[in-house]
Amino acid sequence: MRSTALLATLAVGALSVALPHTSEDVQLPLVIWHGLGDDFEREGLAQVAELAEETNPGTYVHLIHLADTGSGDRSATFFGNVTEQIELVCEQLAADPILSTAPAINALGFSQGGQFLRGYIERCNAPPVHNLVTFGSQHNGISEFESCKYNDWICNGAEALLRSGRWTSFAQSRVVPAQYFRDPRELDLYLANSNFLADINNEREAKNETYKKNLASLNKFAMFMFEDDTVAVPKESALFAEVNSTTGEVTALQDREIYQEDWLGLKQLDKAGRLDFKTTPGQHMRLSEEVLRDAFKEYFGPLEDNWRTPSLIVQRGS
Ligand SMILES: *[C@@H]1O[C@H](CO)[C@@H](O)[C@H](O)[C@H]1NC(C)=O
Ligand SMILES: *[C@@H]1O[C@H](CO)[C@@H](O)[C@H](O)[C@H]1NC(C)=O
Ligand SMILES: *[C@@H]1O[C@H](CO)[C@@H](O)[C@H](O)[C@H]1NC(C)=O
Repeated sequence: MRSTALLATLAVGALSVALPHTSEDVQLPLVIWHGLGDDFEREGLAQVAELAEETNPGTYVHLIHLADTGSGDRSATFFGNVTEQIELVCEQLAADPILSTAPAINALGFSQGGQFLRGYIERCNAPPVHNLVTFGSQHNGISEFESCKYNDWICNGAEALLRSGRWTSFAQSRVVPAQYFRDPRELDLYLANSNFLADINNEREAKNETYKKNLASLNKFAMFMFEDDTVAVPKESALFAEVNSTTGEVTALQDREIYQEDWLGLKQLDKAGRLDFKTTPGQHMRLSEEVLRDAFKEYFGPLEDNWRTPSLIVQRGS
């Protein structure tokens, strides 16, 4: 009954998805940002949206897109200035009558869509994100560019630009994967030139406190790594770890400066039990329905109507 009522409310353009004073549970909307080479019109994405709706009835799903056509949206996964793309998404979500009036939204990022959603949270977060789940995302960047497996001019074009100069302002303003390229062997070049990742990870000297505050405001941030990922290199970037490409040594997030000095609020989240590190079998983005369904149940389920009240920590005798 509850979900039927909510759907009916959504159908009339719901000025509020659910007000905190109602006695109903709240089913937050879900936004999904797809990965490289994908587009919002793909059948697979529609199936994910359907599964989200089926797992948590009443979920309003919005597929983030950077163009009105599938081909334009796909092209934007390779080409564009990520800063401008995030600005566009901030406008897109804020302009959606359901998302913008919801008390909060949940967010699901596939591959590069995951670090871009993190960028949305850090820079805009209006509407605010409740839970963020990322699959195979490159939170600590990539140290190799994905090779084009197909005879695909868009992908080949992007790859050629990357080879010809990843740190040029040309690549940094136009080629999407260049903007999250991060090889620990050339950290200085990265810090000096990275248009997106170095900024969003607060790795430069001047830290943006808003980024930290916004990210730390998440209820849950769950990162999934694909165990057999050979596409996104290094795969451990999905868990915000750093890999020495010479020795293969992995430094876990908790052992890194970004965490220990808490440039991003990740330590704060972790200490509060709000940061989840997950692994899932298989190659990059080979997601089973079961894995998705479990994640949707765990992170995108309905909330009690008093969800915004922090759980009471009763301190006795102090
Ligand atoms: C920090 O980020 C916010 C959100 O993008 C921005 O409005 C602000 O200007 C930034 N602050 C600094 C010091 O760069
Ligand atoms: C990307 O776009 C932003 C916003 O328009 C701009 O400030 C920045 O300089 C651009 N980045 C590059 C590398 O051109
Ligand atoms: C990788 O490990 C080797 C051996 O410990 C070390 O000499 C090198 O500086 C490390 N590379 C980076 C980028 O930290």
